[in-house]
Amino acid sequence: MKVLVSEQIAQKGIEKLTQEGVNVDVKPGLPREELLSIIGEYDGLIVRSNTKVNEELYQKAAKLKVVGRAGNGVDNIEMEGATKRGIIVVNTPESNVVSAAELTIGLLFATCRNIPQLHNRLKERLWDRSGLKGMELQGKTVGIVGLGRIGSLVATRLKSFGMTIIAYDPYISDTRFQKLGVEKKETLDELMSQCDILTIHTPKTEETYGMIGKEQFKVAKKGLTVINCARAGLINEAALMEALKAKIVKRAGIDVLEGEPHATSPLLEFDNVIVTPHAGADTVEAQDNVGITVAQEVVSALRGEMVPNA
Ligand code: MLT
Repeated sequence: MKVLVSEQIAQKGIEKLTQEGVNVDVKPGLPREELLSIIGEYDGLIVRSNTKVNEELYQKAAKLKVVGRAGNGVDNIEMEGATKRGIIVVNTPESNVVSAAELTIGLLFATCRNIPQLHNRLKERLWDRSGLKGMELQGKTVGIVGLGRIGSLVATRLKSFGMTIIAYDPYISDTRFQKLGVEKKETLDELMSQCDILTIHTPKTEETYGMIGKEQFKVAKKGLTVINCARAGLINEAALMEALKAKIVKRAGIDVLEGEPHATSPLLEFDNVIVTPHAGADTVEAQDNVGITVAQEVVSALRGEMVPNA
């Protein structure tokens, strides 16, 4: 069993593969051409979010039996190409959800209290809070789009801050809403017009891509805070920038950028936007969980055993 790990995963995951008798090559940051030239040697491939697993790759991957996504979203993996070749795709949907929810809340506090901006001023040896008055969370309404694993964790945590939680998710049952103590909104517009803070937690699909755009910002409450710790493009970046310029959006905390990885986003020009480099799952705990889980799943798939997250 030969497995290529094309992005950084936890050492514990690599150890697990080796213990299970896998011949593993770890080659993070491999140029695309090189990846394509060697992929034919491997039975398994483990990726995070930067490796595009698409038709171009499948055509060169004659022996490939399993693709392991060390993480939750599988939007960088073309499912159709995998399915038609009988390649199993596995992911680790539970392993990093707490970390993603915690970064969402971290960005919420950081944006609402201008923590990075205040820190930067002091680093410049300036004791100066002017123009950086924050906003309390207590008594505010947070609108969650997507009440799945991460959205639910965000909801339960934010409740403890005395916030009202409303959510839009047509795929979640009323019972689940009730159980979480979250008010269900039937339409996105309804949610947009009522929340002070918007946070999105959906996968990136054809249906969700660009779901928050110009039209949605038109109905938003003026002074909205926007958080995106899910996927780039769920909130249209150009529309967000327009809304920031028009002061409809007062501040934003963004962990995911269109075309990432790069450090050239125009969002970086805004003083009231905090941007992090897709760090939602980047904790020791999440990476250990993800690494071990994906390693186990890939080994099971290669052995023809049952795989829970296939
Ligand atoms: C995920 O889909 O699990 C996250 O985006 C984390 C990651 O890609 O590392």
